[in-house]
Amino acid sequence: MTLRVILAGLGVRGRHWAEVLTRSERTDIAAYVDPNPAARERTAAQYGARPAFETLDDALNAVEADALILANPPIGRKAQIEAAAAHNLPMLIEKPLALDIAEAAELVRIAESAGVPLMVGLNFRYLGVTKATMKLFADGTVGTPSFARFTYERYRDGNRADLNKYPLTMDQPMLWEQSIHHFDLMRYVYQSEPVHVSCKTWNPVWSMYTSDTNVSALFTFENGMIVNYQGTWQSGWAEPHFEWRTDCTGGIASQRHQFSDLFYARQADTTLMPVPLPPHEQWITETAGLLDAFVNAVVDGAPLECSGRDHLRSLAMVQACVVASRENRCVSLVRASSISS
Ligand SMILES: NC(=O)c1ccc[n+]([C@@H]2O[C@H](COP(=O)([O-])OP(=O)(O)OC[C@H]3O[C@@H](n4cnc5c(N)ncnc54)[C@H](O)[C@@H]3O)[C@@H](O)[C@H]2O)c1
Repeated sequence: MTLRVILAGLGVRGRHWAEVLTRSERTDIAAYVDPNPAARERTAAQYGARPAFETLDDALNAVEADALILANPPIGRKAQIEAAAAHNLPMLIEKPLALDIAEAAELVRIAESAGVPLMVGLNFRYLGVTKATMKLFADGTVGTPSFARFTYERYRDGNRADLNKYPLTMDQPMLWEQSIHHFDLMRYVYQSEPVHVSCKTWNPVWSMYTSDTNVSALFTFENGMIVNYQGTWQSGWAEPHFEWRTDCTGGIASQRHQFSDLFYARQADTTLMPVPLPPHEQWITETAGLLDAFVNAVVDGAPLECSGRDHLRSLAMVQACVVASRENRCVSLVRASSISS
């Protein structure tokens, strides 16, 4: 079966999705949706003409479809999620589901009570480097993870034409838009839930963003894992820097690029060993992996990965950081069991 997908939101991320949906042999684009006519025209010119609509309701009333991919900004998505749920359409929705955990929980409830799958776009889980890191831990190469340092430093020019604009003025853009991926990866790779966090967020004096672009957080996980996180969108240097180093009982794993570059060393080694990784096209390969998981769930009945309910646990990390920084204290995270009840 070919999955007929309505693609709503044709901005930066929507164009990644158009590329991935067009390449996939298991999906067709049933319709484009975007209130901005220029976005609809640009997408049709690049990826082929399809029925195109200003609103999701218009598309739902006009075309036959099997699923929705929603890549609009995470602000006010309730109407679209209710409409898709009413049409019994499985949804793949871009992260973060919402900019408030109570709102996100309500969106999850809407989909669950309609019995409709809701997956969240956590594409970084599907990187070759992520899978290879998990294998290093699972096959005993470096032993069991004990503590980690996660560093993401970037000068993100929010005025660049090829970047979305709403983060320039939203609250805590780094945490909700970027760190959410990193926090989700921590839970995914270490296979444990966070229990508490201390955090400071701030905005450097040169920042072009209204709210904080810098996050420094210290997480403790249920399995004893401790992660020291530092992220910024307003680095003092335009050259990006990424390192995610995990110290383990028998060595270290070190990822040196957001999308690739994995190394390991055993405790007594004097040099790092590179880990071979599969070929990767940035934003496309890992998004195709995410799409495959969605199609496997919707068409073949495989368990749903990156569910909305699971996403609430990563959003809880973001929200806990906001509170910890504002109130200058260590914040306990809601236990996984109480979120899923
Ligand atoms: N997973 C990733 O790696 C990744 C990367 C970039 C962005 N994102 C996420 O994708 C989402 C969109 O980000 P973006 O960078 O594409 O933003 P953007 O501002 O570039 O594009 C958003 C598009 O949505 C359209 N839109 C607004 N309201 C709409 C509605 N009600 N229905 C349909 N379309 C609507 C806008 O007109 C615009 O064309 C965000 O949630 C963002 O966090 C994810």
